[in-house]
Parts: sequence; structure tokens; C-alpha cells
Amino acid sequence: MLRFDNVGMEYRTFSGSTKALENINLDVKSGEFVSILGPSGCGKSTLLFIGTGLTKASFGQVLFHDQPLTDTVNNVGFVFQDHLLLEWRNAINNVMMQCEFRDLDKTKYLEKAKKLMATVGLTGFEDKYPHELSGGMQQRVSICRALVHGPELLMMDEPFGALDALTREQIRMDLERIWMEEKNTVLFVTHDINEAILLSDRVVVMTPRPGTIREIIDIDLPRPRKLSTTETPEFYHYHKHITQLFTEMGLLRDE
Ligand SMILES: Nc1ncnc2c1ncn2[C@@H]1O[C@H](COP(=O)(O)OP(=O)(O)OP(=O)(O)O)[C@@H](O)[C@H]1O
Ligand SMILES: [Mg+2]
Repeated sequence: MLRFDNVGMEYRTFSGSTKALENINLDVKSGEFVSILGPSGCGKSTLLFIGTGLTKASFGQVLFHDQPLTDTVNNVGFVFQDHLLLEWRNAINNVMMQCEFRDLDKTKYLEKAKKLMATVGLTGFEDKYPHELSGGMQQRVSICRALVHGPELLMMDEPFGALDALTREQIRMDLERIWMEEKNTVLFVTHDINEAILLSDRVVVMTPRPGTIREIIDIDLPRPRKLSTTETPEFYHYHKHITQLFTEMGLLRDE
């Protein structure tokens, strides 16, 4: 569905040029959950922007349903590290923003918005304004906002980065449950090895800048993945392998 064909990116600014990505070849299948795991500054966000056509690659091309991406993808949902909610709109109206922009049937999507909010434990908070919500709740609202119109493609850029460990674990499980129902194609950026393994069908491990693909790992663990999944030998094997890759790249030291 989404294919990066020898994609490279060089940012040129007045202060000089930065090579962010090099030789990215990645084929994302429809309905697949793919994580991008790599060190800070290796071009993960850049990759998401290029994949939606918001940024144009300097080299290579992106194919969306076998067609070169010349414009921005319309049927997409984006979740950023920061929730980016509008402070003057309550939670449900933040979620419904997508439907207003896209001129979708309000009554129908209001039902969907409420259902999504219930799935992530936000029932009763629909009328609250962002400042009345906790950080985790705000991020849950932004996830509902990205999903309400049923986007074919969902780009998530470290969506849980600012959350505490407990909330992070719960939202991750909520997200897997929603994804299993909605079957969006997801590109999910994270620094967290556990999170990448627990959510993904495949984990793309990247090198430091200029980001290239070090290895793509198939994660063959039954779904839904549970808290106890981390105690299985299979999980341990994936974790060990990825840790080893980061050690080899000099990003982790075990002394
Ligand atoms: N708009 C831009 N103009 C110039 N350089 C940029 C721009 N956006 C990103 N870069 C550079 O490209 C490189 C990759 O940036 P990017 O934000 O894609 O990394 P990242 O992997 O998402 O990092 P992080 O994990 O810290 O979010 C960085 O060196 C950054 O300085
Ligand atoms: Mg980033």
C-alpha cells in the first residue's frame, strides 16, 4: 500500500545541509502495523512526513497504492508527540474537528467519536476542555481525533512519549484493541523497544543519521498482546536481538 523506494532526504537550509535519510526501501502492506525504532535525529519524523506527502523526498520516490505520491495523502490520521488539542474546544469537539474539515455526516460520526472515546476510557469526559484533562487523557483524545474518520493510513510520531509508564502501557493496549477492529495501516515511531515489539507486525530498526534501515524484524506473537507477553521466551528473543543491534551500532553500552 505504501512503498518507500530508495528514499533519501537532504535538508538544505541557510546554515548548511543535513542528510536525514538514505536508501530507505520499505513496503508497508495494507492493514499492517509497522514500528520505526531508532535513535533521536535519525529521520523518523521525516519518514512519516515523506510517507504522507507533506515533505517531498530529495531522492527516490514514494508509491501509494502503486502510484507515485505527488500530493498529500488525504485519508490519513496523524498523532504527534504533543497532543496539539485546541484549548477552546471541548474533548468531543476536538475529536470531531476532522469530520468538520472533511464535511462528513455529523450525526453518524458523533456516534463513532463517542464509541472511540469509550474504548479509551474517556466516557464522561466528552465535555471537558483540554486543561481539565490529564496528559494521558489529552493524548487519548488526540488518538480518537486521528481515528474518527476511519483513515486508511495512521501515522503516529512517538504518541506516548510524554506519558508516564503506567499510562503508556494502558494506552498501548487500548491502541492495539482499536487497531484490531479498525485495521488501519499504521506507521508508529518510537524509541521504546518493548512498545515496538508489543504493537507491531514488523519493527524497522534504523541506524543513526543519515537514517538507513539496519534490519526489519517480523514479530510473530499472538494478539492481543498482554502484559504477560513480555514474560514469554519469544518476546525475550526479539528484545535481545534488537538490543544487540543497538549495541552493535554503538548506541547502547553494557559495561
Ligand atoms: N525542517 C527541517 N529543516 C532542516 N533540517 C531538518 C528539518 N527537519 C528535520 N531536520 C533534520 O533532519 C534530521 C532528522 O530529523 P527528524 O526530526 O526526522 O529525526 P527523528 O528521528 O524524528 O528525531 P527524534 O527522535 O529526536 O524526534 C535532524 O538532524 C534534523 O536536524
Ligand atoms: Mg521525531
